Amino acid sequence: MFLDAEAVTEEKDGEEVRYLSATNATGVGGAGKRARLTGRMNEKITQDGGLLIGSDNIIASLRSTGLSMVTIDTDKGEDMPDNVKPLTDPSRKPPPEGRLVHYDEEIEQAKEVRTETTNTIKTALQDVAEGKEMDVEKVQEAGGVISESILRNVDAMVSLTRIKKHDPYTAMHCMNVCTLVTAMAMHDGTDPGMLPAITTAVLLHDVGKTRVPLEILNKPGRFEPHELQEMRKHGTYSGDIMREDGSFSEEQIAIAEQHHEMMDGSGYPQALEGDSIHYYARLTAVADVYDALTAKRVYKPAMPMYQALLRIHKNKVTEFDEKVVDLFIKTLGLYPVGSLVEMNTGEQAIVYEPNPVDSRKPVVALLTQPNKKPRAAPFIISLAIRSQADGREITKVMDPENIGIDVEEVMADVEQRGERTDRKSRR
Ligand SMILES: [Fe+2]
Repeated sequence: MFLDAEAVTEEKDGEEVRYLSATNATGVGGAGKRARLTGRMNEKITQDGGLLIGSDNIIASLRSTGLSMVTIDTDKGEDMPDNVKPLTDPSRKPPPEGRLVHYDEEIEQAKEVRTETTNTIKTALQDVAEGKEMDVEKVQEAGGVISESILRNVDAMVSLTRIKKHDPYTAMHCMNVCTLVTAMAMHDGTDPGMLPAITTAVLLHDVGKTRVPLEILNKPGRFEPHELQEMRKHGTYSGDIMREDGSFSEEQIAIAEQHHEMMDGSGYPQALEGDSIHYYARLTAVADVYDALTAKRVYKPAMPMYQALLRIHKNKVTEFDEKVVDLFIKTLGLYPVGSLVEMNTGEQAIVYEPNPVDSRKPVVALLTQPNKKPRAAPFIISLAIRSQADGREITKVMDPENIGIDVEEVMADVEQRGERTDRKSRR
């Protein structure tokens, strides 16, 4: 396909920035919105104006910029295939502020992004462990793809960080932490053009673990002092590996090196304090602890999400940057997707979709009757829609392990058998 467009170069903060100005394109932010050209899009814009669309990734890049409609020059390339659905269902209300598409329009793509990029980081970690060079371009590409999904709808990728079942642990952990940090950075108003570099750095924050002897890294019990000392070098090793590669900026290296530093100087490896810790390393520190607490390991059970949030909140002025903790809680919402909750009616439910407008009122799937008897099929309602909520409110959060529930099995069941009211009436 060939999108009729021209590249516009402008100066921004002393830097030359290229934009794609597409004919008859409209954006969520209003007509005339332009796509900033970065990465592969920057390379593909042709000299005489126009963009050859050869992959879904380019379409994803365009969508992430806010363009919602473009015209295609069919003299220069093929038209859209007939089976391609529109970007958004025109009968629905526009997505909530700060989101370019609805959650349910992004979630499937976010799952693909997550699988693909977790494999990329897994391979990169394996390569480094085997003494080979990692494919930096692929890791950077992964950083770009993750950022793009988050820019389209931040809640989709964030909701998937609840999934802890992935082997090996480090790749899944890198993926989760990187998603959470990118989402926080987006909420914080970080320039979208900077997100891929931050995302890439956080993806690699634990790459230094590949230099920690396996018998220490995989030890199920408590570390001996000398083992702890070695384990605590992994941030420094991450920085060394990135520096040796030569493809990363000092800022990116600092994010990885400083992700275990604490605001009160109790962290490692350098015992840095307060503002001397790189801002995005402070974000990484919060996401890192949260993901580690909520993960099930051979030596400890998974801590429920709300308890992990409370634990982090308790240490918000000592170990963590107070403002960053607030930002984290805002990013995750009061009831993250997958939280098991009880309603004022006594019904038990699982949080199925977040509500970025009012996090007290997400979309939930009712699993039981008020008397706790299981429903024949999960029933999905939005607590933000009065007719569906019918007076229901969340009153309690429960620990799934305590009542023997596997959250991912329940989520899959809701996806398959969940009954819901008409889509058009939803937000
Ligand atoms: Fe770490």
